[in-house]
Amino acid sequence: MGAEQGAAPLRGRVVHARAKGKRDAMKPSDLGLNLTLGDDVTIGAGVTFGANVVVHDGTVIGDGCFIQDNVVLGKAPSLSPASTAKRGELPPLTVGPGTVVCTGAVVYRAAMLGPRCIIGDLASVRERCVLGERAVIGRGTCVENDTHIGAFTKIQSNAYITAYMEIEDRVFIAPCVQTTNDNFMGRTEKRHELIKGATIRRGARVGGGVVLCPGIEIGEEAFIAAGAVVTKDAPPRKVLMGVPACVVRDVPAEELLENQ
Ligand SMILES: CC(C)(COP(=O)(O)OP(=O)(O)OC[C@H]1O[C@@H](n2cnc3c(N)ncnc32)[C@H](O)[C@@H]1OP(=O)(O)O)[C@@H](O)C(=O)NCCC(=O)NCCS
Repeated sequence: MGAEQGAAPLRGRVVHARAKGKRDAMKPSDLGLNLTLGDDVTIGAGVTFGANVVVHDGTVIGDGCFIQDNVVLGKAPSLSPASTAKRGELPPLTVGPGTVVCTGAVVYRAAMLGPRCIIGDLASVRERCVLGERAVIGRGTCVENDTHIGAFTKIQSNAYITAYMEIEDRVFIAPCVQTTNDNFMGRTEKRHELIKGATIRRGARVGGGVVLCPGIEIGEEAFIAAGAVVTKDAPPRKVLMGVPACVVRDVPAEELLENQ
Protein backbone atom coordinates (compact mmCIF):
# COMPACT_ATOMS: atom_id res chain seq x y z
CA MET A 1 0.00 0.00 0.00
CA GLY A 2 1.39 3.42 -0.96
CA ALA A 3 1.48 6.56 1.09
CA GLU A 4 -1.30 7.86 -1.15
CA GLN A 5 -3.43 5.80 1.19
CA GLY A 6 -2.33 7.69 4.26
CA ALA A 7 1.01 6.65 5.80
CA ALA A 8 1.72 8.75 8.87
CA PRO A 9 4.13 11.69 8.32
CA LEU A 10 7.55 11.34 10.01
CA ARG A 11 9.29 13.64 12.43
CA GLY A 12 12.61 15.19 11.29
CA ARG A 13 15.70 13.06 11.91
CA VAL A 14 19.11 12.02 10.62
CA VAL A 15 19.45 8.27 10.14
CA HIS A 16 22.83 6.55 10.60
CA ALA A 17 22.65 3.16 8.95
CA ARG A 18 26.21 2.59 7.66
CA ALA A 19 27.83 -0.76 8.27
CA LYS A 20 31.42 0.25 9.20
CA GLY A 21 33.77 0.67 6.19
CA LYS A 22 31.14 0.08 3.51
CA ARG A 23 30.10 2.66 0.93
CA ASP A 24 26.40 3.25 0.43
CA ALA A 25 25.49 0.59 2.93
CA MET A 26 21.77 0.13 2.54
CA LYS A 27 19.62 -0.87 5.47
CA PRO A 28 15.91 -1.47 5.79
CA SER A 29 14.10 1.18 7.76
CA ASP A 30 10.89 1.08 9.70
CA LEU A 31 10.16 4.71 8.77
CA GLY A 32 8.21 3.52 5.71
CA LEU A 33 6.85 0.32 4.18
CA ASN A 34 9.86 -1.50 2.70
CA LEU A 35 11.91 1.70 2.89
CA THR A 36 15.67 1.26 2.37
CA LEU A 37 18.11 3.94 3.55
CA GLY A 38 21.81 4.61 2.96
CA ASP A 39 24.06 6.20 5.53
CA ASP A 40 23.52 9.69 6.92
CA VAL A 41 20.25 10.37 5.19
CA THR A 42 18.52 13.46 6.55
CA ILE A 43 14.75 13.33 6.64
CA GLY A 44 12.92 16.56 7.41
CA ALA A 45 9.81 16.95 9.51
CA GLY A 46 6.54 15.77 8.03
CA VAL A 47 8.04 13.70 5.21
CA THR A 48 5.73 10.98 3.85
CA PHE A 49 7.07 7.86 2.14
CA GLY A 50 5.20 5.48 -0.18
CA ALA A 51 6.14 1.83 -0.38
CA ASN A 52 9.49 0.45 -1.63
CA VAL A 53 11.43 3.73 -1.60
CA VAL A 54 15.26 3.61 -1.77
CA VAL A 55 17.25 6.60 -0.44
CA HIS A 56 21.02 6.51 -1.01
CA ASP A 57 23.85 7.84 1.18
CA GLY A 58 23.77 11.41 2.36
CA THR A 59 20.52 12.42 0.67
CA VAL A 60 18.83 15.39 2.34
CA ILE A 61 15.02 15.43 2.17
CA GLY A 62 13.43 18.72 3.22
CA ASP A 63 10.41 19.19 5.44
CA GLY A 64 7.02 18.15 4.15
CA CYS A 65 8.19 16.22 1.09
CA PHE A 66 6.06 13.39 -0.32
CA ILE A 67 8.17 10.58 -1.74
CA GLN A 68 5.81 8.17 -3.49
CA ASP A 69 5.99 4.42 -4.17
CA ASN A 70 9.09 2.92 -5.84
CA VAL A 71 11.08 6.15 -5.93
CA VAL A 72 14.91 6.05 -5.89
CA LEU A 73 16.68 9.12 -4.45
CA GLY A 74 20.41 9.83 -4.71
CA LYS A 75 21.27 7.13 -7.23
CA ALA A 76 24.88 7.24 -8.51
CA PRO A 77 25.12 7.27 -12.32
CA SER A 78 26.52 4.31 -14.25
CA LEU A 79 28.52 5.98 -17.04
CA SER A 80 29.56 4.24 -20.23
CA PRO A 81 33.24 4.72 -21.25
CA ALA A 82 32.06 7.00 -24.10
CA SER A 83 29.84 9.12 -21.89
CA THR A 84 30.39 12.89 -22.07
CA ALA A 85 29.18 13.33 -18.49
CA LYS A 86 31.76 14.64 -16.01
CA ARG A 87 33.22 12.09 -13.62
CA GLY A 88 34.35 12.35 -10.02
CA GLU A 89 32.98 12.51 -6.53
CA LEU A 90 29.37 13.59 -6.31
CA PRO A 91 27.88 15.36 -3.32
CA PRO A 92 24.57 14.05 -2.04
CA LEU A 93 21.17 14.84 -3.52
CA THR A 94 19.14 17.57 -1.84
CA VAL A 95 15.36 17.70 -2.10
CA GLY A 96 13.78 21.03 -1.20
CA PRO A 97 10.93 21.33 1.29
CA GLY A 98 7.45 20.48 0.08
CA THR A 99 8.69 18.72 -3.05
CA VAL A 100 6.71 15.74 -4.38
CA VAL A 101 8.60 12.93 -6.11
CA CYS A 102 5.97 10.77 -7.80
CA THR A 103 5.76 7.04 -8.32
CA GLY A 104 8.74 5.32 -9.90
CA ALA A 105 10.82 8.47 -10.41
CA VAL A 106 14.63 8.35 -10.09
CA VAL A 107 16.62 11.39 -8.92
CA TYR A 108 20.41 11.15 -9.00
CA ARG A 109 23.15 12.12 -6.62
CA ALA A 110 24.33 15.77 -6.69
CA ALA A 111 21.03 17.02 -8.06
CA MET A 112 19.41 19.91 -6.18
CA LEU A 113 15.63 20.14 -6.25
CA GLY A 114 14.24 23.45 -5.07
CA PRO A 115 11.25 23.91 -2.79
CA ARG A 116 7.81 22.62 -3.87
CA CYS A 117 8.92 21.00 -7.11
CA ILE A 118 6.98 18.11 -8.64
CA ILE A 119 8.84 15.25 -10.31
CA GLY A 120 6.25 13.21 -12.23
CA ASP A 121 5.74 9.46 -12.34
CA LEU A 122 8.63 7.58 -13.96
CA ALA A 123 10.62 10.76 -14.59
CA SER A 124 14.38 10.88 -14.08
CA VAL A 125 16.59 13.80 -13.08
CA ARG A 126 20.32 13.20 -13.48
CA GLU A 127 23.35 14.22 -11.47
CA ARG A 128 24.18 17.93 -10.93
CA CYS A 129 20.84 19.15 -12.26
CA VAL A 130 19.48 22.16 -10.40
CA LEU A 131 15.74 22.87 -10.28
CA GLY A 132 14.34 26.16 -9.04
CA GLU A 133 11.33 26.68 -6.84
CA ARG A 134 8.11 24.97 -8.02
CA ALA A 135 9.64 23.56 -11.19
CA VAL A 136 7.49 20.74 -12.63
CA ILE A 137 8.92 17.75 -14.50
CA GLY A 138 6.21 15.78 -16.29
CA ARG A 139 5.51 12.09 -16.36
CA GLY A 140 8.22 10.05 -18.04
CA THR A 141 10.40 13.07 -18.79
CA CYS A 142 14.15 12.58 -18.72
CA VAL A 143 16.36 15.45 -17.58
CA GLU A 144 19.99 14.61 -18.33
CA ASN A 145 23.04 15.66 -16.29
CA ASP A 146 24.17 19.24 -15.55
CA THR A 147 21.01 20.95 -16.74
CA HIS A 148 19.59 23.93 -14.88
CA ILE A 149 15.84 24.57 -14.76
CA GLY A 150 14.47 27.82 -13.42
CA ALA A 151 11.71 28.59 -10.96
CA PHE A 152 8.10 27.96 -12.05
CA THR A 153 9.22 26.28 -15.26
CA LYS A 154 6.93 23.47 -16.47
CA ILE A 155 8.14 20.57 -18.57
CA GLN A 156 5.31 18.30 -19.66
CA SER A 157 5.20 14.52 -20.18
CA ASN A 158 7.74 12.50 -22.13
CA ALA A 159 10.04 15.37 -23.00
CA TYR A 160 13.75 14.66 -23.45
CA ILE A 161 15.85 17.39 -21.85
CA THR A 162 19.45 16.84 -22.77
CA ALA A 163 22.60 17.46 -20.72
CA TYR A 164 24.11 20.95 -20.31
CA MET A 165 20.95 22.95 -20.96
CA GLU A 166 20.08 26.27 -19.34
CA ILE A 167 16.35 26.72 -18.94
CA GLU A 168 15.34 29.92 -17.20
CA ASP A 169 12.30 30.80 -15.08
CA ARG A 170 8.67 30.39 -16.24
CA VAL A 171 9.50 28.45 -19.38
CA PHE A 172 6.84 26.10 -20.79
CA ILE A 173 7.95 22.92 -22.57
CA ALA A 174 5.16 20.86 -24.15
CA PRO A 175 4.90 17.06 -24.29
CA CYS A 176 7.45 15.09 -26.31
CA VAL A 177 9.82 17.99 -26.98
CA GLN A 178 13.22 16.64 -27.98
CA THR A 179 16.43 18.53 -27.24
CA THR A 180 19.94 17.68 -28.46
CA ASN A 181 23.51 18.64 -27.55
CA ASP A 182 25.90 16.90 -29.95
CA ASN A 183 26.09 17.75 -33.66
CA PHE A 184 28.71 15.02 -34.10
CA MET A 185 26.44 12.28 -32.75
CA GLY A 186 29.14 10.55 -30.76
CA ARG A 187 31.97 10.81 -33.34
CA THR A 188 35.28 12.77 -33.17
CA GLU A 189 37.11 14.04 -30.10
CA LYS A 190 36.14 17.69 -30.68
CA ARG A 191 32.56 16.85 -29.82
CA HIS A 192 33.59 16.91 -26.15
CA GLU A 193 34.43 20.63 -26.18
CA LEU A 194 31.47 21.60 -28.38
CA ILE A 195 28.76 19.69 -26.57
CA LYS A 196 26.01 22.07 -25.45
CA GLY A 197 22.28 21.90 -25.07
CA ALA A 198 19.97 24.78 -25.90
CA THR A 199 19.53 27.85 -23.73
CA ILE A 200 15.87 28.73 -23.20
CA ARG A 201 15.28 32.22 -21.86
CA ARG A 202 12.65 33.34 -19.40
CA GLY A 203 9.02 32.81 -20.33
CA ALA A 204 9.69 31.08 -23.66
CA ARG A 205 7.19 28.41 -24.83
CA VAL A 206 8.12 25.37 -26.84
CA GLY A 207 5.25 23.46 -28.51
CA GLY A 208 4.51 19.77 -28.70
CA GLY A 209 7.05 17.56 -30.45
CA VAL A 210 9.49 20.39 -31.21
CA VAL A 211 13.14 19.47 -31.87
CA LEU A 212 15.82 21.87 -30.60
CA CYS A 213 19.25 21.53 -32.20
CA PRO A 214 22.43 21.81 -30.06
CA GLY A 215 23.64 25.10 -28.64
CA ILE A 216 20.86 27.36 -29.94
CA GLU A 217 19.15 30.05 -27.87
CA ILE A 218 15.39 30.46 -27.59
CA GLY A 219 14.83 34.11 -26.74
CA GLU A 220 12.76 35.45 -23.86
CA GLU A 221 9.01 34.86 -24.38
CA ALA A 222 9.55 33.32 -27.84
CA PHE A 223 6.85 30.84 -28.99
CA ILE A 224 7.90 27.79 -31.00
CA ALA A 225 4.94 26.22 -32.82
CA ALA A 226 4.20 22.51 -32.50
CA GLY A 227 6.38 20.22 -34.59
CA ALA A 228 9.04 22.80 -35.50
CA VAL A 229 12.71 21.95 -35.88
CA VAL A 230 14.73 24.84 -34.50
CA THR A 231 18.18 25.06 -36.10
CA LYS A 232 19.08 28.69 -35.28
CA ASP A 233 18.56 31.12 -32.42
CA ALA A 234 14.95 32.21 -31.94
CA PRO A 235 14.57 35.97 -31.36
CA PRO A 236 12.72 37.10 -28.22
CA ARG A 237 8.93 37.60 -28.39
CA LYS A 238 8.56 36.08 -31.86
CA VAL A 239 6.48 33.11 -33.04
CA LEU A 240 8.49 30.59 -35.06
CA MET A 241 7.03 27.77 -37.12
CA GLY A 242 8.07 24.99 -39.46
CA VAL A 243 11.04 22.91 -40.52
CA PRO A 244 13.44 24.64 -40.28
CA ALA A 245 11.69 27.06 -37.93
CA CYS A 246 11.21 30.61 -39.24
CA VAL A 247 9.78 33.75 -37.64
CA VAL A 248 6.14 34.26 -38.69
CA ARG A 249 4.92 37.04 -36.37
CA ASP A 250 5.20 38.67 -32.94
CA VAL A 251 3.88 36.97 -29.82
CA PRO A 252 0.56 38.76 -29.09
CA ALA A 253 0.84 41.24 -26.23
CA GLU A 254 -1.94 39.56 -24.25
CA GLU A 255 0.15 36.37 -24.06
CA LEU A 256 3.23 38.02 -22.57
CA LEU A 257 4.01 37.30 -18.92
CA GLU A 258 3.79 40.97 -17.98
CA ASN A 259 0.12 40.93 -19.02
CA GLN A 260 -0.95 37.80 -17.14
C1 LIG B 1 1.16 28.10 -33.90
C2 LIG B 1 -0.24 27.57 -33.62
C3 LIG B 1 -0.76 28.28 -32.36
C4 LIG B 1 -1.15 27.84 -34.78
O1 LIG B 1 -1.07 29.19 -35.13
P1 LIG B 1 -2.18 29.87 -36.08
O2 LIG B 1 -1.62 31.14 -36.59
O3 LIG B 1 -3.46 29.88 -35.33
O4 LIG B 1 -2.27 28.86 -37.26
P2 LIG B 1 -3.44 28.75 -38.32
O5 LIG B 1 -4.21 27.55 -37.94
O6 LIG B 1 -4.15 30.06 -38.46
O7 LIG B 1 -2.62 28.43 -39.63
C5 LIG B 1 -1.88 29.43 -40.34
C6 LIG B 1 -0.97 28.70 -41.31
O8 LIG B 1 0.13 28.15 -40.56
C7 LIG B 1 0.15 26.74 -40.73
N1 LIG B 1 0.47 26.18 -39.40
C8 LIG B 1 -0.25 26.28 -38.29
N2 LIG B 1 0.39 25.69 -37.27
C9 LIG B 1 1.54 25.21 -37.78
C10 LIG B 1 2.62 24.50 -37.20
N3 LIG B 1 2.62 24.17 -35.91
N4 LIG B 1 3.65 24.18 -37.99
C11 LIG B 1 3.66 24.50 -39.31
N5 LIG B 1 2.66 25.18 -39.90
C12 LIG B 1 1.60 25.52 -39.14
C13 LIG B 1 -1.25 26.34 -41.18
O9 LIG B 1 -1.24 25.14 -41.87
C14 LIG B 1 -1.63 27.52 -42.02
O10 LIG B 1 -1.01 27.39 -43.26
P3 LIG B 1 -1.74 27.91 -44.60
O11 LIG B 1 -1.91 29.40 -44.43
O12 LIG B 1 -0.79 27.55 -45.70
O13 LIG B 1 -3.06 27.22 -44.66
C15 LIG B 1 -0.24 26.05 -33.41
O14 LIG B 1 0.27 25.41 -34.58
C16 LIG B 1 0.65 25.60 -32.27
O15 LIG B 1 1.81 25.35 -32.42
N6 LIG B 1 0.07 25.50 -31.07
C17 LIG B 1 0.81 25.01 -29.91
C18 LIG B 1 0.19 23.71 -29.43
C19 LIG B 1 1.04 23.11 -28.36
O16 LIG B 1 2.11 22.62 -28.62
N7 LIG B 1 0.57 23.15 -27.11
C20 LIG B 1 1.34 22.60 -26.00
C21 LIG B 1 0.49 22.21 -24.84
S1 LIG B 1 -0.64 20.91 -25.21
